[in-house]
Amino acid sequence: MVEVRKELRDLEVYVPGKPIEELQREMNLKHVVKLASNENAFGPSPKALDALKSAIYNVNRYPDSGCYYLRRRLAGILGVDEGNLIFGNGSDELIVLAVRAFLEAGDEVIVADPTFLIYRIASKAAGVNTVSVPLRNMRYDLEAMASRISARTRMIFVANPDNPTGTYVTKGEVEAFIEKVPEDILLFFDEAYYEYAQGRDYPDTMRYMGRGNIVTTRTFSKIYGLAGLRLGYGVADKRIIDGMNKVREPFNVNLLAQEAALAALDDEEYVRFVRAETDKGKKFLYSEFERLGLEYVPSATNFVLVKLGSNSEEIYQRLLRSGVIVRHMKAWGLGEYVRVTIGKDDENRFFIKTLETILQDKSKNLT
Ligand SMILES: Cc1ncc(COP(=O)(O)O)c(C=O)c1O
Repeated sequence: MVEVRKELRDLEVYVPGKPIEELQREMNLKHVVKLASNENAFGPSPKALDALKSAIYNVNRYPDSGCYYLRRRLAGILGVDEGNLIFGNGSDELIVLAVRAFLEAGDEVIVADPTFLIYRIASKAAGVNTVSVPLRNMRYDLEAMASRISARTRMIFVANPDNPTGTYVTKGEVEAFIEKVPEDILLFFDEAYYEYAQGRDYPDTMRYMGRGNIVTTRTFSKIYGLAGLRLGYGVADKRIIDGMNKVREPFNVNLLAQEAALAALDDEEYVRFVRAETDKGKKFLYSEFERLGLEYVPSATNFVLVKLGSNSEEIYQRLLRSGVIVRHMKAWGLGEYVRVTIGKDDENRFFIKTLETILQDKSKNLT
């Protein structure tokens, strides 16, 4: 019998948010709203869709391994050299590439707890030990993370803004932190929700690239609405990019993703539209949570963490049965919470109405 590597034996497989069609099949439901994977409910830019329509005729060809046009365009927008960029099959892949390129079995990485689960999964799969540092008031505690640096530490992950909390660390906090991190430790800033984060004290981590140990990743999966095509990018010193390229598969970014992303970058107005609609949805959810007496964590992203209390799992299951998919936070160690992605207005309203009915039923049952 063939045996899986020992590092993988007790590694849990990442469970993504339930797809709409799966719930429709399981529960025989017609109307299902998915607010579980922090996708962009408003869809991609019409310009990206047009680009896709023409690009489909070329899918008999392999994609451009170097993403030439996308690289040139993005380098211009970001004001970096083309050699400072790497593209991935989602920003997920860039996490894996960084681990593969820079870490060895027995090394240590520092991660927050809870945070995006892939950091821990990618590290564990490589035989790397993760040192977990609890959040403080639902925010990354960079001081505590810096204090856990040891001779074995090779990498530190910072999701900014964080998932599942939606909170961010400020420019001041990041600058103080960078000073404490030795230059032979890779600092990975995951900025999947960068375009949503509007705070004036939100840092621009690309500015610190010159230190040579910092990589910043972003994605086309969120505000650009292209999650299904899988495309993310990383920005770093050329030596880091070269290292990651050594373990990158040559055709990791598909042809349709490259074309759609190029067109999406040209539609800034659409990005503004998505951001404004998301903000409206966020305000609606905040005010409804307040009306229902539910605690929530103010978020800089397109999702909100809300506390449903000790019955949260049952409420989550009842939401599912009514056709609303949110994310229960037990796997993140936040058993009383669910995470809700901000949807379109009708989806947000359907969620709130369903939640309110469930909460009312529960309080009746208690009396
Ligand atoms: C913090 C964070 N990083 C990275 C990702 C991965 O995004 P993608 O692989 O779609 O670019 C996500 C997706 O939810 C995320 O929340």
